[in-house]
Amino acid sequence: MRFNGKTAIVTGAAGGIGSAVATQFAREGANLCLADTRPEITVAQEIRALGRTVIEQLTDVTDSAAVRLMVERTLEAFGRVDILVNVAGVSSHGSSEQVTEAEWDRVLTNNLKSAFLCCRAVIPPMRAQRYGRIVNIGSILGKNGGNPRPWIDRAEQTRAGNVAYGASKAGVHMLTMFLAKELAADGITVNAVAPGPIASAMTVNFPETLRALIPVGRMGRAAEVAEAVSFLASDAAAFITAEILDVNGGMWGD
Ligand SMILES: NC(=O)c1ccc[n+]([C@@H]2O[C@H](COP(=O)([O-])OP(=O)(O)OC[C@H]3O[C@@H](n4cnc5c(N)ncnc54)[C@H](O)[C@@H]3O)[C@@H](O)[C@H]2O)c1
Repeated sequence: MRFNGKTAIVTGAAGGIGSAVATQFAREGANLCLADTRPEITVAQEIRALGRTVIEQLTDVTDSAAVRLMVERTLEAFGRVDILVNVAGVSSHGSSEQVTEAEWDRVLTNNLKSAFLCCRAVIPPMRAQRYGRIVNIGSILGKNGGNPRPWIDRAEQTRAGNVAYGASKAGVHMLTMFLAKELAADGITVNAVAPGPIASAMTVNFPETLRALIPVGRMGRAAEVAEAVSFLASDAAAFITAEILDVNGGMWGD
C-alpha cells in the first residue's frame, strides 16, 4: 500500500498500459483521476470496487485547456496531485517516405506535445506541495532507431512503429531529462519507462519476425510496464530522477 492517501492522474487510462497502471496504483492505495479521449474506461469500476475514489475525466491531452481542467478537477476532488503518469499515445507505421506531414504532426502532437502539456499543468501544485512523481511512457523506438529491418524485409515496416513515432518518443525521453533537472530541488522526480513490444491494441499486428527477436521469447505484458511505473512513482525511488527505464525483454540495452 505504498500509495495510501496519494492521488495519481493516469492519461490513456482506457488503453492497455493505462488500465494496467491505474489498476496497479489502486491496488497500492492511490485515488485516481483517469483521463482518456475514450469515454468508456473499463477499469474504473474495478478500481472503485477496491475502495478507491476515482474520477473519470474525458480529456484530449493535446488540448491545453482540457489538460488544465483535468488537473483542476483532480485538485477539487482530492486537494492534491502527487503522481502524473503520461500514458496516452498513438502509434504510426510505415516507411519515412510514407509519413505525410499531417501524420508527422498528429504523432508528435499526441505523443510529445501532450506529455509536455500534462507535465506543465501539474508543476504548480506539485511545487506548492514540494512533492511530486512524474512518469512518462517513452519507447524502445525512442532509443534504437526502430525495430523493422527494411534491408531484409520491407513488410516489417508496415506493421511496426515508424520514424514519427520514434522521434516523438525520443522527445519524451528528453522532456523527462530536462524536467528532472528543473524540478529536482522541489521534491519532484521525473522519469520514464521505455517499453519494448507490449501486447495491447497498439501491437495486434506486430510482425512475427520481429517478435522472434525479443530475447525473452515473448511480448511484454502491460502489467509488467505498470510494475516499473509503480516503482518509479514510489518513495523507494526518491533518489532516481531523469532515468529512462527499459522494460523490453532484452531487445535493447543502454
Ligand atoms: N504497446 C506497446 O508495445 C508500446 C510500446 C512502447 C510504448 N508504448 C506506449 O505506451 C502508451 C500506451 O500504449 P498502449 O499499448 O496501452 O496503447 P492503447 O492504444 O491500448 O492505449 C492508448 C490510449 O491512449 C489514448 N489516447 C490517445 N491519444 C489521446 C489523446 N490525445 N488524449 C487522451 N487520450 C489519448 C487512447 O484513447 C488509448 O486509450 C503509448 O504512449 C504508447 O506509445 C506502447
